[in-house]
Amino acid sequence: MKHRSSQPDPMRRGLLAALAAGCLAAPAANAEELRSGYTYMEPATQALQDDDFLNPGFFLVEEGLALWQQPMGAEGLSCADCHGPVEEAMRGVAARYPLFAPEAGRVLNLDLQIQSEVADRMQAPALAYDSPEILALTALISLQSRGMEMRPEITPQARPVLERGRALYETRRGQLNLSCAQCHDDNAGLRLRGDVISQGHVNAFPIYRLTWGEPGSRHRMFEWCMKSIRAEPFDRGSEDFVALELFLAERGAGLEIEAPGVRR
Ligand code: HEC
Ligand code: HEC
Repeated sequence: MKHRSSQPDPMRRGLLAALAAGCLAAPAANAEELRSGYTYMEPATQALQDDDFLNPGFFLVEEGLALWQQPMGAEGLSCADCHGPVEEAMRGVAARYPLFAPEAGRVLNLDLQIQSEVADRMQAPALAYDSPEILALTALISLQSRGMEMRPEITPQARPVLERGRALYETRRGQLNLSCAQCHDDNAGLRLRGDVISQGHVNAFPIYRLTWGEPGSRHRMFEWCMKSIRAEPFDRGSEDFVALELFLAERGAGLEIEAPGVRR
């Protein structure tokens, strides 16, 4: 609605402040009614995600497939040399993450697991979080779980991390003094600077975000949200972000994996 945004809108200017003060809470969403972020997108954005040929995130999958077969590191091995065809080896894997990885002795998300395959198992030069290679391999592996229900493994070792994630999710922070929950639980459906606030699920990552003009990880999205409330973001790949991700995966358990997703 162009005629609206052309005029200064006091509601819009004060929206974040009003949110923080709790005077704008939308009717509480039924906690049982899980809705993917996809359902909040405009039809044109949904259409991009629906069509593998138009989906701008799909080039990642092609790059990922090339990397899967590319020899790397000390022994000159490729992922495929050890794992075989990705369609079989990685089927359903992404749907179980984050999980407690015994080898690492801590909870890893898929991005960190792949980073560790490259740097530790293959002894190849480390690849940065959100590097094109890690995003490509994450997209490729996540695609092998598309349509499956996201359901992280909450083993006893993962339980305290889950609880820490829940606490982080509920903590107010930043100059605007907002928690993740205040936006994604209490105000899902509300318009905010051109976005419609969704329930904040992690089932579509990596996503291609049209406003970024490039793909990004879950942790990049968390960082964006923290910056938007003027909070100091945690580091991508940090234990805090992994804990938040584990909590969000459990909170959205049952949603279908959509990777690679497309978002506004
Ligand atoms: C001021 C409101 C606000 C707060 C607070 C906020 N977010 Fe968001 N978040 C948004 C908006 C707006 C978007 C983009 C639209 C959408 O997908 O919901 C978004 C998107 C997301 C998404 C992507 C959802 C998808 O389907 O692609 C995730 C995940 C997310 N946020 C997690 C978090 C976490 C974790 C926190 C707390 C650290 C947080 N958000 C705090 C407003 C907020
Ligand atoms: C030297 C052999 C070897 C190479 C090379 C290798 N992996 Fe692995 N990978 C393993 C072993 C062994 C495991 C642990 C047992 C398992 O889950 O199969 C594993 C586990 C994994 C897992 C976790 C699976 C799960 O079920 O949790 C992922 C994801 C993975 N590898 C991805 C990759 C990727 C991507 C590459 C290439 C960048 C790669 N691996 C290269 C041997 C290898």
